[in-house]
Amino acid sequence: MTSRFHNPVDTRFGWGSIELLADLTEGQKVALVIFPEARALGLVERIQTILGERLVCVIEDVQPNPDVAQLRGTYERFWREAGDCHTVVAVGGGSAIDTAKALIVGTEGGCFDELLALLASGESFVPSRCKRLIAAPTTAGTGSEVTPWATLWDADNQKKYSLHLDCTWPTVALIDPQLMMTVPASVTVSTGLDALSHALEAIWNHNANPISDTFAVAAIEDILECLPQLHNDLANPELRSRMALAALKAGMAFSNTKTALAHSISYEMTLRHGLPHGIACSFTLPLVLGLAWGRDATRDRTLQRIFGPELDAAQARLRAFLHSLAVKTEFADYGVTTDEAQAILEAAIHGARGQNFIGSTAARA
Ligand SMILES: NC(=O)c1ccc[n+]([C@@H]2O[C@H](COP(=O)([O-])OP(=O)(O)OC[C@H]3O[C@@H](n4cnc5c(N)ncnc54)[C@H](O)[C@@H]3O)[C@@H](O)[C@H]2O)c1
Repeated sequence: MTSRFHNPVDTRFGWGSIELLADLTEGQKVALVIFPEARALGLVERIQTILGERLVCVIEDVQPNPDVAQLRGTYERFWREAGDCHTVVAVGGGSAIDTAKALIVGTEGGCFDELLALLASGESFVPSRCKRLIAAPTTAGTGSEVTPWATLWDADNQKKYSLHLDCTWPTVALIDPQLMMTVPASVTVSTGLDALSHALEAIWNHNANPISDTFAVAAIEDILECLPQLHNDLANPELRSRMALAALKAGMAFSNTKTALAHSISYEMTLRHGLPHGIACSFTLPLVLGLAWGRDATRDRTLQRIFGPELDAAQARLRAFLHSLAVKTEFADYGVTTDEAQAILEAAIHGARGQNFIGSTAARA
């Protein structure tokens, strides 16, 4: 069988690579979407210096887990004030990058509810206009800089939307580990675990192939070794760089496979139980590993390259790894009863991401 891997993002990785923004936006009007703490860290000023007069709009009130209730105002302000810009530069974690992905998709009347109605229909669409996106992640986690997806939340209605169009692939990803030096310990852990979850989900996935496996296995090996060290040494530039690269590899892997069951479970845990995304999509990894094991010989071989031949030992290793980062691994630890957990699992396996899981085959039939 022929394997295919496709990722159209022009990807640059390196310490200080944010300076490339000057060349990458030559002669263009630029809007900047950046995380709220960036101004106090001197990062807004640094980017203003790099971009100079090209910078026509700065949006910095980005919410963690961008919610449609707040996005509406930001979207309409963006199209009103910066509708004529060529490029949006997103500097931040997944929340800033996903916010920027929503902003760049222009509706006919510049009205956010038109976009929401298109998303709610679940159909693909071609937007009437779209901006070019340059994504510079400041967390080592989501991989959003190399994927077309944006997760938009609707807490009031306990829903989430997935935006993904041809034009929501970033044009350029600039991965500069120097920007990650200020990430606090809790966010370093939760985002690092999000990346681990991306890589594992890319393996126990109907869409996996040897090319996506190459990225996923390398990411998992790096994260298992590096994240606990980084947790104890947050100011270490080498460890920051290794985690940035690991998260990029994980992002590349799932950019072609999409996520699977652990992410499908996570949406409910974030919406109903308020768990940060990275914890919500990783606390079940030992459980999901057990559900994946023995389903498909090729997938087992890939998992065993990392974890060895015994499932019990593999699950124990993953559990011990998560516990070492103070992440609890049972539903009950998050106040979810056994019956509720079973219901979440059943619903998750039937969700769009759950159907990518190799253990969902029985549920599909
Ligand atoms: N599009 C995708 O493919 C994809 C994949 C996974 C997750 N996501 C989405 O990404 C979001 C989560 O992103 P995240 O985990 O990167 O967290 P985040 O972007 O919400 O950031 C977490 C916190 O850290 C702060 N922060 C970010 N960078 C910092 C830095 N360098 N220094 C100090 N503080 C910093 C942020 O302001 C925020 O308060 C969720 O909405 C999730 O659904 C998207």
